[in-house]
Amino acid sequence: MSARTADPTFPINAWYAAAYDVELRRELMPRTICDRRLVMYRRADGSPVALEDACWHRLLPLSKGRLVGDDVQCGYHGLVFDAGGRCVRMPSQETLNPSACVRSYPVHEKHRFIWVWPGDPALADPARIPDLHWNDDPAWAGDGKLMHVKCDYRLVVDNLMDLTHETFVHGGSIGHEAVAEAPFEVTSTERSVTVTRWMHGIDPPPFWAEQLRKPGPADRWQIIRFEPPCTVTIDVGVAPAGTGAPQGDRSQGVNGYVLNTITPETGTSCHYFWAFCRNYRIHEQGITQKLREGVARVFAEDEVILEAQQQAILDHPDKEFYNLNIDAGPMWARRIIARMIAQEREIAGGARAAGDGAAAGGAPTAGAAAKSAVRPTPLRAGMPDLAAAGH
Ligand code: FES
Ligand SMILES: [Fe+2]
Repeated sequence: MSARTADPTFPINAWYAAAYDVELRRELMPRTICDRRLVMYRRADGSPVALEDACWHRLLPLSKGRLVGDDVQCGYHGLVFDAGGRCVRMPSQETLNPSACVRSYPVHEKHRFIWVWPGDPALADPARIPDLHWNDDPAWAGDGKLMHVKCDYRLVVDNLMDLTHETFVHGGSIGHEAVAEAPFEVTSTERSVTVTRWMHGIDPPPFWAEQLRKPGPADRWQIIRFEPPCTVTIDVGVAPAGTGAPQGDRSQGVNGYVLNTITPETGTSCHYFWAFCRNYRIHEQGITQKLREGVARVFAEDEVILEAQQQAILDHPDKEFYNLNIDAGPMWARRIIARMIAQEREIAGGARAAGDGAAAGGAPTAGAAAKSAVRPTPLRAGMPDLAAAGH
């Protein structure tokens, strides 16, 4: 929930990255996502588990207990829960209370992330996990990190959907006047927003000059794609000017993908998972290392801005945001997020109104709401209906 209002800031019927693959081991790891406290671990066969981090008996966090085989033993009175959250052992009694269980969340490992579905388990289709295949595709090399940022995850989405800030925040690495000045185009469908920017014949900034290793002017591109509620992939690169990159021939250039998925922890904090993957010199591990640290330094510059912005929002609860042409991408992303939240509220409201009758078919189903048609809508930067919206 938002710290400013009781309004939810994120939908719950979605897959969220809860951990990097390397973080999860044969030990109990507490993590909060979407205001839900989880305990996570791997079973002996490596498969991931996500349980509610509160014992059924007296609510001690299960993460304070220990792993026994594939089960979790509470660290207070020793109740044992299996990976499905069912209590399978109670000390000093033979009959198990059938209601003794903790919530088990749908969990799935894909593209180097452990994804958790905090909402209705019946809707948790792994096919809906965002496509971040560059992260484990052998044709690409790269690595990333997890940052804990003290801000609403939507501020990070805003930040990524409008890269003009590179000019002002990242002047020493990837920033360039052209990013703030070049025209861009925004398009949207029901489940995506794309911001495309080409900068023709520019002097590549230091980061890209080092990657390209070819003197002279370059064509640079940034194609940003948002997938709700919180995944942003950015196709980035440079090629020597005039070698055909804008027309589709990138063979003379270098290409990377910045993968970002930003999981809300609370209404005002998030887990920001990212990776930078490239398709050139992929066997040079030293480059992977260097790029990872370089991008981490760039993102640390964002972190300072984002946390200061969040604090200012909390300090000025009466103020709204204003929107410029550059905010078309972020605004469109926020509209999709807001629509998902509204649909979930509608369903929850319908279920409440119908009470137990819902099971008999009285309430709208989540599936029906999800199918409500929203036509693909092209949106150009600078369109006139960018009215001021709340945070
Ligand atoms: S609190 Fe977990 S067994 Fe008592
Ligand atoms: Fe940035």
